[in-house]
Amino acid sequence: MTGTEKIWIIGGSSGIGAALAKAFAEEGAIVVISGRNQASLQQVVAPLGPAHGAIAADVTDIESLESAARVHGPFDRIIISAATYDPGAVIAADQDKAEAIIRTNLIGSFNVARVGTGHLRKGGQLVLFGSAAAIFGLPQGQVYSATKAGIVNLAESLRVELWPQVDVRLVTPGFVRTPLTDRNSFDMPAILEPEDAAKRILRGLNGKGFEIAFPRRLIWPLRLLAVLPKPLAFSLTTRLRQ
Ligand SMILES: NC(=O)c1ccc[n+]([C@@H]2O[C@H](COP(=O)([O-])OP(=O)(O)OC[C@H]3O[C@@H](n4cnc5c(N)ncnc54)[C@H](OP(=O)(O)O)[C@@H]3O)[C@@H](O)[C@H]2O)c1
Repeated sequence: MTGTEKIWIIGGSSGIGAALAKAFAEEGAIVVISGRNQASLQQVVAPLGPAHGAIAADVTDIESLESAARVHGPFDRIIISAATYDPGAVIAADQDKAEAIIRTNLIGSFNVARVGTGHLRKGGQLVLFGSAAAIFGLPQGQVYSATKAGIVNLAESLRVELWPQVDVRLVTPGFVRTPLTDRNSFDMPAILEPEDAAKRILRGLNGKGFEIAFPRRLIWPLRLLAVLPKPLAFSLTTRLRQ
């Protein structure tokens, strides 16, 4: 690529998205971050310097995505890390929150793909966020994990549909310490700091692989679980029931 890269990170006001914004800015890219809250966006973008931008956009609102893209595009990469999560037992689940998880995570990723494709330079990257939680359904995972499994499928289908105009990538993080996981009441195995996660993602996106999955010590056991005969897999995951 020639010239300075321009990257739009939707979900850039917190957690992994904010760490990615900093990591890309340190590499010399121009970063534009979006989320719903302008004040939180400003807090992340201000220390990065005046070349970088912040613009409010809601992934559930196509028009807000379109107008942000019209102001700041075209981009070399569009990264959608925005997501929401509401852990707990299915019988205690709040219906409105469950529907918001589907709208934000799954439909939001679809919306960004629809809008973003028209605002990417030729061969630019569209980066969707799955999760280790998508590899095999675990107790208490429910709708969040289901949206992430849906995003994996979405990314696979877009990868072929949009190539070579758009280079679709999938990020599959294990546990990362962010406001999203601060709501978990269990011990999170192999948890990483957001800066570490951002470094791994940046390295992966600069490489050629479709999926950037980490850390291996969590991903590989889950992948093994997913190929075991179901009765055996379920007997193992029963131990995780709270
Ligand atoms: N942390 C982990 O352990 C982990 C593990 C696996 C996968 N992931 C995935 O990694 C990604 C980043 O997670 P994180 O832990 O960094 O989350 P986070 O700290 O909670 O950040 C979520 C970001 O999404 C934005 N957002 C939420 N709803 C939005 C909406 N409707 N429109 C636009 N922006 C919205 C938030 O800003 P506003 O609320 O201000 O809009 C915030 O910037 C997510 O896709 C998550 O599912 C995380």
